[in-house]
Amino acid sequence: MDWSAAETPLVATRAVHFAATAIVVGDVVFRSVIAAPPPRAEAGVVASRVIPTLRVAWFSLGIAVISAGLWLMLQASSMSGMPFDQASSSDVLSTVINETQFGQVIAVRLGLAICLTVCLAFDTRVIARWPEFAAALAFAGSLAWSGHAGATIGETGYVHVAADALHLIAAAAWIGGLASLILFLRACCRSKAVSLASHVVGRFSIIGLMCVGTLLFTGVINTVILVGSVHALIVTDYGRLLVLKLALFSLMLMFALINRLVLTPRLSSFRNGAVGWLTCNSTAELVLGLIILAVVGILGTMHPAIHS
Ligand code: HEM
Repeated sequence: MDWSAAETPLVATRAVHFAATAIVVGDVVFRSVIAAPPPRAEAGVVASRVIPTLRVAWFSLGIAVISAGLWLMLQASSMSGMPFDQASSSDVLSTVINETQFGQVIAVRLGLAICLTVCLAFDTRVIARWPEFAAALAFAGSLAWSGHAGATIGETGYVHVAADALHLIAAAAWIGGLASLILFLRACCRSKAVSLASHVVGRFSIIGLMCVGTLLFTGVINTVILVGSVHALIVTDYGRLLVLKLALFSLMLMFALINRLVLTPRLSSFRNGAVGWLTCNSTAELVLGLIILAVVGILGTMHPAIHS
């Protein structure tokens, strides 16, 4: 495998950063598009049910900022060839921030994190809703410039970075949205708010379907540019890791289909356990999604198959 154990801190930091980014962005999409506007009769109930997800958004934003800082220092160490402690000096870090694309992307994303912090602080104000939504999508999409897509040159580079940005936004909306949906369903279970649960689950599965379509379309573009052939998919470490990712993705799809085709139609009452099963399946989907983000944490540090 052309990935050495020495890179474990970088891979782990990337995976934690992808997961934290996905959860904060997914929660903003969930509260802005899926849980809002609520059915008139349940308006008050919704407000109290999204509180738990907001707390998770705050926590994840904190983890995203801390892991971005660690990622910057680890990248500075690998770029400069210096040990971690020396590479964390202000001179080296300012050189990486001012003179590398990776550093500039981290600086822009720190600005977006500050914007998100302000919007989350004023989350109950309608005026904060759309800047929050735009900053969240930009926070996820801007990661594309720090990965392999950001290194592809020429016209293909524009297509690759645009596809990867959409890929990242769809991944965040689906996986992060799942975390918020699970918290929301548990809160609905406690208060027996059945029509609200079915209203929100119905909207979530529409957004979920759009995310799956986007992930497939942009994933194929990523694969064509970074793998290039079925042969490379089979004989290279990068290709085989991507196949593992696709297997995990297929498992996620299976749970999503059971939720949509079997459990959602049965969401007429709490007696048949449909909400309980929906929460379990969504948790399984979330765990698979987080494992995919760990796999992507490795993929981004390897030589793309097309170059092997
Ligand atoms: C739940 C489903 C999926 C999630 C959560 C997901 C997530 C991600 C993330 C976070 C990245 C990193 C982008 C970067 O560093 O710039 C990525 C890259 C990638 N994804 Fe996906 N993806 C999913 C499905 C797919 C599918 C279905 C395909 C193929 C059809 C695919 C192919 C790729 C490829 C080739 C890359 C580039 C990896 C690299 O930077 O070397 N993904 N994905």
